[in-house]
Parts: sequence; C-alpha cells; structure tokens
Amino acid sequence: MSSSIYPTCWAASDGKASGMRENKTSPRWELKARGLVLAIALALSGVVFSGDLPAQAGPALAPVARPPMGWSSWNSFSNTVDSQIVMDQARAMVSSGMQKAGYEYINIDEGWWLGTRDVEGNIVVDPKAWPALSPGEQPGDMSNIVRFIHGLGLKAGIYTDAGENGCSMYPDLGPKYFHAGSEGHYEQDFLQFAKWGFDYVKVDWCGGDKENLDPAVQYAEIGRAINRAEAITGHRLFFSLCEWGKNSPWSWAPGVGGAPAAIWRTSGDIVAPIVAGHEHADRKASFAGMLSNFDQGIHPEAEHTGYYNDPDMMVLGMPGLTEAQNRVHMSLWAISGAPLIVGADLAHLSPAVREILTKSSVLTVDQDAAGLQAVKVAEPATGLQIWSKPLAEPGARAVLLLNRTGSEQSIRVQWADLQLQSAAPRITDAWSGEQLSGTDDSYATTVAAGDARMLLVVGTEAPMQRYGPQLVHGASAGTQPGAVLRQHPARFENVEGRGEITRIQIVYRNPDHVARFARLRVNEQGATVIAFPPTGKSGPGMLWIQAKLGSGSKNLLEFSSDCSPGPQIDTISVQ
Ligand code: GLA
Repeated sequence: MSSSIYPTCWAASDGKASGMRENKTSPRWELKARGLVLAIALALSGVVFSGDLPAQAGPALAPVARPPMGWSSWNSFSNTVDSQIVMDQARAMVSSGMQKAGYEYINIDEGWWLGTRDVEGNIVVDPKAWPALSPGEQPGDMSNIVRFIHGLGLKAGIYTDAGENGCSMYPDLGPKYFHAGSEGHYEQDFLQFAKWGFDYVKVDWCGGDKENLDPAVQYAEIGRAINRAEAITGHRLFFSLCEWGKNSPWSWAPGVGGAPAAIWRTSGDIVAPIVAGHEHADRKASFAGMLSNFDQGIHPEAEHTGYYNDPDMMVLGMPGLTEAQNRVHMSLWAISGAPLIVGADLAHLSPAVREILTKSSVLTVDQDAAGLQAVKVAEPATGLQIWSKPLAEPGARAVLLLNRTGSEQSIRVQWADLQLQSAAPRITDAWSGEQLSGTDDSYATTVAAGDARMLLVVGTEAPMQRYGPQLVHGASAGTQPGAVLRQHPARFENVEGRGEITRIQIVYRNPDHVARFARLRVNEQGATVIAFPPTGKSGPGMLWIQAKLGSGSKNLLEFSSDCSPGPQIDTISVQ
C-alpha cells in the first residue's frame, strides 16, 4: 500500500517561512513545429486571448468540499464529556430535525482522553466513561461510540493537540491532565482515530503554543499522517486546525500537508464553556464577542476549493443572545461560508432556535457549491455594512445588510457593488421568503439597531475578462500554454484587478482520480494552495477563487506546482 494517496511533496515545503520553491533553470521544451509557431506568436502578442464574455459561459463547476455542519461537545459540556452525553446529543440531532437539515458531525472535544498511553504508546481510554454499548464490545474502545453515531446515520469527530500536552493542562473544570497531545505519536494516533472509524479530527494548539512550535510545520506533518491513515484504512478524517489565528493560518493552511479539504480557526473562543450545574454555569455568550469572531474570520483570499476560515463553533442557542441576535449570528456564519458547528445542548433547544438552525434558505447560502466567502463591498457610514457572497448560480448573491450602530438605520445596496449589471434583479428576503422590489440600481430598507437583513439577489453578471497563460522566454520561463503544470509556473500577466477582492474563474483539467494542487502567487507575494478536483479525461472543469489583486491592469498571477504533475490551467477570467 502506498504511504499516501495525495501528493506529499506539498508538505515538504510547507514551512511558514519557506513559501514556494522557485525553479531557476530554463525549460527545455521539445516543441514540434506547429507548437513552436504558436508559441512564438503567443509570446509576441502578450496575452494569449482575452475579451469580455458572459460570466455564466464555460465548463461545469467542479465539486468542492462544503463547510462541515455538526455539533461539538465543548461549549456545553467542557471536559465532562462521556459516552452518555454523546449518545443523548446524537439522538437529539436526529429528533430536532437538524440531521434532516444537513447537520452530520457529532464531535467529541477535549476531555475524552486523560493523557495515558500503554507501553506501545497507544492511547488508553477510561472504560467507565466510554463503556461497551452493544454485546461483544470492549469497554474503553472508542469504536463503540463511533458505531453508535454511525448507526444513526451521522458522522463522528475526535480531538487532540499538536503538542505533547493538550489544553487540559489549563482545565476549565476539574483537575489538570498532562500528555493529552499527539506530539511524537502523529502517525500512530491519526491511524488509531481512522481505525476507530472517526470521520473528523480537530487538532488544537495549546501544547504546540507552549513549546513554541511552528504550526505550519506541525500541521503539515499531521496532514501527512491523516493522508497516510487514509491510505492504510480507506477512511478519511476531515482536518480541523485550531491555532486560533495566532500565526495567520489563512496564509498557509489551505492544502497543508496535502489535505484535500480543511478548516482553520481564525480567532479565540467566542465564550468559555457553560456547563449546566457546574462552576461558571452563569457565564453568558455575548453578541459583541460573536461579531468580533466574525470579523476576524474574514480572509476571502484563502477560502476556496474546500478550504474554510473557522470563526469558532456557534454560540447560537446558548445563554446570552436574544432571538434576533441568534438570527444575525446564523446569517453571519452562513454568509461567511463558515463551518456550522453548534455548541449548544441539542437536547434543550427552544423551538425558535431549532427553526433558526434548520432554516434551509440560509443553510443553502453557507453550503453554496462555489465555496466562496462574503466580502464587505460597502460601508456607506460607520457600522452600516453590506456583505456579498457570490453564489454558484450565475448572477446570484447572498447579501447581508448589517446595522452595527445603536439606532435603526436605512441601508442601501447598489447592484454595481455586487458586480451585477444595472437591471432590476430578483430580490428575496432569505428569512421570510418575501419577494422585494428594488430599482434598476439598488435596493434600500431599514434595519433595526444591531440587526441584519439577509437577501438573495439574482441578476445579471457584469462581463468578465478572460486571460490565457503567457509563454515567456528566458531564465524565468513559464509553463507552455496548454501544458500540465510541472516545475515551471503558468503565468498570467497584465491581469486587471477589480476592487479590493477580485473574483476569478479558473478553467483547468485534472484527469487524475484525486485532487491535484497548485500554488497561486499574486504579484510575487503571498501564496495560496488551490485544490483542483478531478475533471475526468474529457475535461475541462471550472472553479472559483477570490484574490487580492492591485487595482489597474498590471497584476501578475503565477500558478506553480512543486508536485509533478499539477493541473493544466487553461484560462482565468476576472470579475
Ligand atoms: C481551545 C479551543 C476550544 C476547545 C478547547 C478545549 O480553547 O479553542 O474550541 O477545543 O481548547 O480545551
């Protein structure tokens, strides 16, 4: 069995400081006569071909992983979590209608393991907290609870730390426990999690932080351990990184260690656990804290192709927020394309909270197939914000009119700010389903203090500009247009930027059966690793990203692959 089914070479150069490895040698293409003539013509003409085209033209959108939806034990149970709690919560996910609405993960957070290992280094689990649940099962075997969760048609998540100690060295409740981390045991532990049957793993950073480790290096190693575990067991663990945004994970987490999909925390916890009947049971979640996590989670240039910023599990339904604030919270997570991991006690949800959590028109926005994050497109006065998330349907946007001031205000959204052409689009209130009417240019409504209106807008896309890869002679030569990306970058020059964030459509081919990866650098700075799902042999496929281009038409975009082979990039189009 191979050690991984994904290319591991990404991980080799994934260190925070290392960035993309540049290859300085000249290419030696063996061009046949026809190709040579074409290549010379292309080199002389600059851009291969460009022009306005309708945004909806082109090949089918490639399938990208959606943000995970589920529940985590941390916020309502802290380290009191055990088998009984998890079974109750899993049953409640089904009976509350959440499973039907799309929630699937039951995630066990810190507290399931107290840091003990046997002589072979295997994790030892308390048999009383995790007993046998069916005849023939062994107490202390975590596959018991996984079987129970799977039996309800749900998926199971587990938790560890990248360092030697986990966060249980700073307990929220009860005594301190040390050594509850995976450092020194990455291959062993992630293989164990996959063998137990888990589908998801959250990897915290308390130990890594204390030891001053480099998270980009550690998480790359963990990504490789997860891929290796999948190659051995056939079982994939969804990768959730949790270093609270301390080391700008949005700049290195996409694709880290060859992970084909992942989420990374962008901030600290919205609230510390509120466990009924225990110390701190009177804690409250705050609306201001939730808003602050939303703000810190906005990194649209990193959210693409199955990689998502994670502003923390939701506090929706926990003590502290009003019903209107819960609705705003849900709207913000949905427009951000955030993971929807619920922290409340599912067995005690009010009908109003259940309704908010399962609102299909809002969940659809979060789970949109394009996998992009909202961008703040206007703030006409301080605290009056207009957020727009481009959706996969051509001309469709989810729009949030957010009033962060202390009084009722009128907020107007201009279609031009959404990159839509002037012409009255269809406008629907995402929560009430009401059809609304705007003008050819805009729509305005009043929004109560601290409240938001979420709209679904379907209009006509503004035209896009298309570019082909450029062939360059000399030492910094690029990949031949139409060639599979190998050591030399595919370069797109003189690309026009549109505002702070430019939406980019990539047409590409990947005839393989797993994702291929390419690193994108804009104007020789920063980088993000893009996952290119298989397109089949007939290709091409299409996907969307957003990038920070400079204004004007002088942007250089370079796609490169340290791995051989990467995808073939046919064209990019900007809007
Ligand atoms: C960190 C994480 C939380 C939770 C706790 C467990 O604080 O951010 O989400 O996992 O650790 O201790």
